[in-house]
Amino acid sequence: MTLEECKKTFKKVVIRGRPIGIRLACKNDREKLIRFYESLSVETIYNRFMGVIRYFDPYVDSLLRKSKAIVIVAEDEEKDEIVGVAEAVGDERGAAESGIAVLERYQRGGLGTAMAKILVEKSKKLGFKTLYGYILSHNMGAYKLAKKFGARIKRDYGEMIRIEIPL
Ligand SMILES: CC(C)(COP(=O)(O)OP(=O)(O)OC[C@H]1O[C@@H](n2cnc3c(N)ncnc32)[C@H](O)[C@@H]1OP(=O)(O)O)[C@@H](O)C(=O)NCCC(=O)NCCS
Repeated sequence: MTLEECKKTFKKVVIRGRPIGIRLACKNDREKLIRFYESLSVETIYNRFMGVIRYFDPYVDSLLRKSKAIVIVAEDEEKDEIVGVAEAVGDERGAAESGIAVLERYQRGGLGTAMAKILVEKSKKLGFKTLYGYILSHNMGAYKLAKKFGARIKRDYGEMIRIEIPL
């Protein structure tokens, strides 16, 4: 992640009437990313992290430090505010764990799909063989989104499932 890459917008979309730019995150997004996660509802945070987190500084710092990671942000260009994040963090086996979250008032407008499409393209380019993630079994939004990219259920833990997208 470099500051140059930070400037390049891959895609512009209009979600719920708002102009949104989708690009790679960069180091100087730290404060905006923390604000984004802290503004999510408890339900969205629980669905994303399967737990309740109050302080996101350590999470964002570690995310921005990772070398084998793709972090995509969606930004409301008029408000200068991050409204969605999708990430893939590579592991030692050539796969990458992915996670995605969209601010509630922008959900169900196609933003998750738009970010996931770019995440999949970038993951292929970086050479990841698989994207995987853990989602709560009742999380229909995440499951439907993953299915659009060919996800299969790899393991069923009851309340949680592991899904994988072969790239
Ligand atoms: C999952 C999430 C990122 C989807 O983002 P989004 O912007 O709403 O996604 P989209 O609008 O592109 O919708 C993708 C598909 O899921 C469906 N969907 C989205 N939310 C849904 C919900 N709550 N219930 C049922 N279906 C839902 C959409 O209808 C769409 O399907 P379609 O294309 O067949 O109509 C968003 O709901 C979110 O942030 N959830 C909380 C965090 C989370 O669960 N993350 C995933 C685990 S890491």
